Amino acid sequence: MSLRVERKAANEVYIPKAFRMDHASDITSFLRDNSFGVIVQAQENDFLATHVPFLYDADRAQLCAHVAKANPQAEQLDGQRVMVVFQGPHAYISPSWYGIPKQVPTWNYVAVHVHGVCHVVHHSEALVDILEQTIYAYEPNSSLPKEANQPFYQNMTKAIVGFRVEITRIEGVAKLSQNKPVEVQRRVIRHLRNSTDNLGDKTAVMMQQKLEQTNPLSDLTIRPLAENESLPMDLLLLADPSRASILHYTEDGSYFIVDLDGSIVGVYVLLRRDATTVELMNIAVHEDVRRNGIGKQLVLHAIETARRLGYTILGVGTGNSSFHQLALYQKCGFRIASVDRDFFVRNYRDRIYENGLMCRDMVRLTIRLEDDEL
Ligand code: COA
Repeated sequence: MSLRVERKAANEVYIPKAFRMDHASDITSFLRDNSFGVIVQAQENDFLATHVPFLYDADRAQLCAHVAKANPQAEQLDGQRVMVVFQGPHAYISPSWYGIPKQVPTWNYVAVHVHGVCHVVHHSEALVDILEQTIYAYEPNSSLPKEANQPFYQNMTKAIVGFRVEITRIEGVAKLSQNKPVEVQRRVIRHLRNSTDNLGDKTAVMMQQKLEQTNPLSDLTIRPLAENESLPMDLLLLADPSRASILHYTEDGSYFIVDLDGSIVGVYVLLRRDATTVELMNIAVHEDVRRNGIGKQLVLHAIETARRLGYTILGVGTGNSSFHQLALYQKCGFRIASVDRDFFVRNYRDRIYENGLMCRDMVRLTIRLEDDEL
């Protein structure tokens, strides 16, 4: 069995990369929790479809189920290519929940398509086995399978057709807002949890699981520095070695910090330039927790905050030698706008060296907040 990761053929379901379920364990737990599927097969110029519960055996790469013998599809199943569609929770997502402008309504959902070849089971023991497994899957304490030799049970089995689907391909889609910043995902989850819709609540549970899976640090809080809190100067100095230049914008800047288990491990500053432009300054993450995605979350948080405050451009500057920072900003959607040659030579008394290079030029990057880049 293979889980498709790339879109290869025109007959495959369209799944944007961000929403593909590409972990076998996710598919297994989804099929266990959402086992009621629709088996579809083509027939001349038409389709046949039946809604039945399935058992998924990941090790044998097969699904098994049964249908009523009276169902016209029953006699068409053997040896045929089939697709079984499993639908999970789904919910309407209002753009007003995102808290960022220029968004459109959407629908979050999880679904899995299983393709394969159907084999009807012809031996009565195999059929009884499928029935037993099905009953125990939904009612582990049932005594019914023990009555398999009873005439009434035997008669019932004559009225059904059991089958196995030998799986050739599985495609899973989990569209759970995971392409949005963590803060936005959290807001959508809150709205769904508060809704009276049971499917909305289940969608929120799946969103929360996805959030924790893709952001192991999703528990961290990014919040404005409170008035009674002192500046995290040690962190700020990691981004700008000049205490004087940090203190220069203390009055006008808005400070945001990352709280992780009660300690401040990250910071950034937003500094207004004019009515349309705001600058991201002094982003820094404590050395002990770097390379965990906190820097990226801070940049995305800054973008979202600047947008919410009504600015149209967010700028950031970094040194020509700051390769990782240049990568970080560009990964978050920033583009290089200009280079201020010899900025660091003119403005800093001590020479700065990084990555074996002298830091001379200020590379200025911007992101246009009116573009729907998130
Ligand atoms: N090596 C390679 N790439 C790195 C890197 C490193 N040491 N540190 C950051 N990056 C880049 C990568 O492209 C990474 O993306 P990836 O994980 O997909 O490879 C991206 O940055 C995001 O990494 P992330 O884990 O979110 O960043 P972080 O939490 O480690 O914080 C800084 C990044 C820059 C904020 C942090 O290194 C820091 O505080 N540096 C000192 C202060 C500073 O230089 N501030 C910027 C002033 S312009």
